[in-house]
Parts: sequence; structure tokens; C-alpha cells
Amino acid sequence: MSSKKILNFAILSHIDHGKSTLADRFLELTKTITKEKMRPQFLDMMDLEQERGITIKLQPVRLEFEISGSKYILNLIDTPGHVDFSYEVSRSLAAVEGVILLVDATKGIQAQTVANLALAEKQKLVIIPVVNKIDLPQAKIEEAVTELANLLRVDKNEVIKISAKHGTNVEKVLEAIVKNIPTPPKDNFKNPFRALIFDSKFDPYKGVIAYVRIIDGEIKTGEKIQLLKTETGAVAKEIGFFNPELISQNTLSAGEIGYIATGIKEPGRVRVGDTIIKATSVGIEPLFGYQEPKSMVFASLYPENPDDFELLTEGLSKLKLNDPSLIFEPETKEGLGRGFRCGFLGTLHTEIVSERLRREFNLGLVISTPSVVYRVIDQKDKEQFIYSATDWPDSSYIKRAEEPWVLLKVLTPTKYLGPISELLKKFKGNYIETKYLGTEKVLLNYEAPLREIITKFYDNLKNLSQGYASMSYKTLDFKVADLVKMEILIAGEKKEAFSKIVPQGQSYEEGKNLVKRLKEVLPSQQFSVALQATVAGKIVARETITAKRKDVTAPLYGGDVTRKRKLLEKQRKGKKKLKEKGGIRIPPNVFLEIFRD
Ligand code: GTP
Repeated sequence: MSSKKILNFAILSHIDHGKSTLADRFLELTKTITKEKMRPQFLDMMDLEQERGITIKLQPVRLEFEISGSKYILNLIDTPGHVDFSYEVSRSLAAVEGVILLVDATKGIQAQTVANLALAEKQKLVIIPVVNKIDLPQAKIEEAVTELANLLRVDKNEVIKISAKHGTNVEKVLEAIVKNIPTPPKDNFKNPFRALIFDSKFDPYKGVIAYVRIIDGEIKTGEKIQLLKTETGAVAKEIGFFNPELISQNTLSAGEIGYIATGIKEPGRVRVGDTIIKATSVGIEPLFGYQEPKSMVFASLYPENPDDFELLTEGLSKLKLNDPSLIFEPETKEGLGRGFRCGFLGTLHTEIVSERLRREFNLGLVISTPSVVYRVIDQKDKEQFIYSATDWPDSSYIKRAEEPWVLLKVLTPTKYLGPISELLKKFKGNYIETKYLGTEKVLLNYEAPLREIITKFYDNLKNLSQGYASMSYKTLDFKVADLVKMEILIAGEKKEAFSKIVPQGQSYEEGKNLVKRLKEVLPSQQFSVALQATVAGKIVARETITAKRKDVTAPLYGGDVTRKRKLLEKQRKGKKKLKEKGGIRIPPNVFLEIFRD
């Protein structure tokens, strides 16, 4: 085992409070990355992360640090701040003994700070409070320090004030890590080998690379291993640590964070949360993993050019290799052709996946408005999950329909409490409680349908609070909902592609909006066309596109009334015939426009 002491920790914060920038300073201070190689947010290794300035994937890195004659190995995990990627945070926490909880001095505590703190406290981790961006003129340093100290119930002196950008006091954070974060339990070294998989990456040559925390014993390159849950045998082809590039080693021991290249080519066999043991071990208990996140948000993805379907299939399959939370199944829709119905963790996840497909595979894409997964219980008490309106069963079959709910936390400065409470009341959710964090900020807890949160809620919240309120949410269970399938008839003909699942109480409004929108985008025809929205056969909204009038009498001069009448009569008959023939042609762009709304 290494003579250096090992300390494992993660940096947590609300989005943009400076985690990756602080990690940059650590990389410099510990000389892990040379000044020449350094670029901002170094650990955000994906192009998209760099461009958007956000962390999407957790990233581990090993730092070596010396203080007062003692040498330390610091294993740091940089985590994403956005609520859609919270599952990355919870996985990181299973691999560490402590966290740095970072708060931006210009913003103070935000919703994700509170949510992250709850995760860290649940795992009984040591928490080091840090206030960042003290260099900014608009920083309210003392306010942020007080808020954070109150939240953690610690003395204000324990909060370290830093500027991650300029490096001010960053060394103090490293010192606090060494002082406060415990080293991993020493005796575990003697136990039979067990490692917890907290992430994975696919490599075409090395197969699936499992990111692991070694809990017990040690492993050497070339040893035979087994993955307990998936009962898969493999060989530890290469093992090592993160620099953040992979640096191979001969041994990894209890307490360390590193990687094991398994050579496994099917990503499904290496599951995050699974335990790796040695193939020769018997009777070994699996480690306590974590629940895999369930996709609750669904959207359909279609290639703009139908010939690109194969490319889209390839793109999604490749992205899934490093993003197991992404799920997809083929589907076909009128006017759009072949595409996929995909499951995501939230709307930012949807955005990120589609942007990666656009960029990395050069794909033009059409994406539907995200919706949630519904659960239907039939008359025989069998459950069925519904991901698309097309699959919604006949109402006679449904005993009960349900939708996912979330526990929503909204954190706002008290002065916006009024308008935000009004906004929350519109949900018909359940009010849980209000907590005051000092005198300036308030945390509202609500239970609400996820459907409400993924639409315009976030934008409304930001608008009402001039950007100061923030939110986070956690999925609860399914709850009974009064849901109906709304169908659209165009010239009396049902168009399944426009069907939608809506709450009964909103069907009138939703129907009105949809037919109005259709009226705007559908080109007028030779005859008038009725647009109807129906629920269980009853019309809830209606619009009419008036006929395109062609003046068939224009070529006539003078007052030949009989001739004129004859022509108009002919036109009328022609239109009737067209109408009887039914079917008006809906141009593909109409499907696209409605689909995108
Ligand atoms: P996510 O991973 O997306 O949640 O973001 P993050 O928490 O990693 O934040 P990041 O390090 O990307 O920083 C966000 C922005 O704040 C960047 O523009 C940084 O340059 C800036 N920033 C970070 N720390 C400081 C600081 O101490 N002072 C100032 N002035 N800006 C900072």
C-alpha cells in the first residue's frame, strides 16, 4: 500500500458557482497540470462542456500534495451542478469521505446547494464550507458566509472565503481538506477485494472502463475479476488512476479511486453501482450501490432528412455507451417517418443529447416537446407505462391513470415570495412547508406533477424573480391524475400524429391552442376545412380554415349572368367532390411545426 495518505473528496455547488474553476487551481497548486497545458475548466473534458461552460459528466482526478512534511494523495471528483445531472453527484458521493460545498458570493445559497447538502449529509460526509468569487465587486461576502454557516449550523469562522479565479485562499481549502477529511478505514486493506463502480466509459480498444472506488483489498493488472450483479467474468486488462488522463499502474489498493479496463464490449454488462470482486473469491457480499436513475422525461427525435435514420441510430447507440441513463426505442410517425422515442433525466439532458447528435454526427434533427411517462392501471390491475399518446389505451380499459410527481424546492429572495407563491398555486400541487434561511431568503417546498415543471416553469420562475430564484427537484412516486387523450380531426379525419395526453381540466384550453396553431400553419385548401380537437368523441375546440377563393368568373367580360352562374356552380361541385374525397394533403412542415411547439 502507498505510504502517502489518501483523501477522497468531491466539490459540490449550484450550477456556475465555480467548481471547475476551483479544481483548476488545485491542479495548478499541486502541479498536476503544468501552467503551459492549463486551460480554464480543465476537467470539463467534453467540447460541449467547454463551450457551454457547464459540467455534464463527473470527472475524477488524482492530486499529490505535500504539507508540513507529510505527503497526501487527494482524489478529487468534479461534479455537475445542474439538477438533471444530480445522479452524477450522488454516485460521486459514494466514492468519497468528504465534500467542499461551494457558494457563489454574488448569489448566496441556491436550491441546488441545499439539495447537494442533503445528499452529503445522508452519506454522513465531512463538509467543508467555502464562499467563492470574493473578488467580484457585487459580491455580498458576509451575507453568503452567514447563510452558509446557518445552513450548516457551524461558526462563521469555519467558512473559507476564496476567489477560485485568482487563487486567493485556495491553499486554505487544501489545508482544510487535509485537516478535516478522514482517511479511508485502514483495516479494509486486509479484506478480500471489493470495488464499487461509480461511473464508466467506453473505449473501442480497452472495452468498458469502470471508474471505481476500491473499498477492500487490492487488485493487480491481469487478475481475473467478476461483476457481481451482472455475473460477468473479465480480466483487469489495465488498471490505474486519473491524471485526469488514464495513468496505468500495477496495483490499486483499498481507499483509492481509479479505473479498471475490463475489455468488456457490451456496455450493459458494466453497471454503475455494481461491485467488482476477484473471480476466485467466494461468498462475497455486494457493496451497497445506488439506485439507477429512471428516465421520466420523454421526447421523440426524428432526422430532418429521412435518409439519416441509420445515422441517428448510430449516434444514439454511441452516446449511450458513456451515458447509460439515455434510453431509446424506434417509432414511426405520419409526416415524420422513422425516428426514436427517447427517455431523458430532464429537459437539459434532452438538450445536451440532441446537441451532441447535431454536432458529433452532423445530424439535422426534429425534437418533440418533452413530456412525462404516464402509468395506466387496467381493469385487471395490470400496470402499463405510456410514453406516447399513440399508445394511450381506450378509456374503457383504464381503471386509473397516473403521472410522476416531484418534491420541488424553490429558493428565492423573500421579496419575490408573493409572485412565486402565485405561480406555484397554479399547479394544484401540495404545499409542504416554507423555511426561512436568515431574513433574506426563503425555501419553499411543494409536491407537484413533474409535467408542470418540465414545461415553462423554470422560465417563469426566472422571469418573476429577475433571475434570483432557483429550483431543484427530486422524483417522488406516481399519483392518480385525471388524464385524457385529446385527438385532432382535420376535415373530419383523425390525425394520430397530433394526439396528446392532457389533464381533463386543461383539455379545453389545450385543444383551443392546438387547433389555433394548426390554423396558422396549415395552408388553405380549395374548400373550407374544419379543425377539431376532441376528447372521448366530444369536440372541445374548433377552428375553420376558409376556402381559397379562386375567381373563376374573372375571364368573363360583361354581364353574361348565366355563364357566370354555371361556372360558380361547377366550382362548388368540384369543391364538394374534393371534400368528399376527404384527405387534404398536410405538408411535412406542418407536422414539424406542431411537433416542435
Ligand atoms: P457547472 O459545472 O456547470 O455547475 O459550473 P461550475 O460550478 O463548475 O462553475 P465554473 O467553474 O464553470 O465557473 C462558472 C463561471 O464563474 C465561469 O465563468 C468562471 O470563470 C467564473 N468564476 C469561477 N470562480 C470565480 C471567481 O472566483 N471569481 C470570478 N470573478 N469568477 C469566477
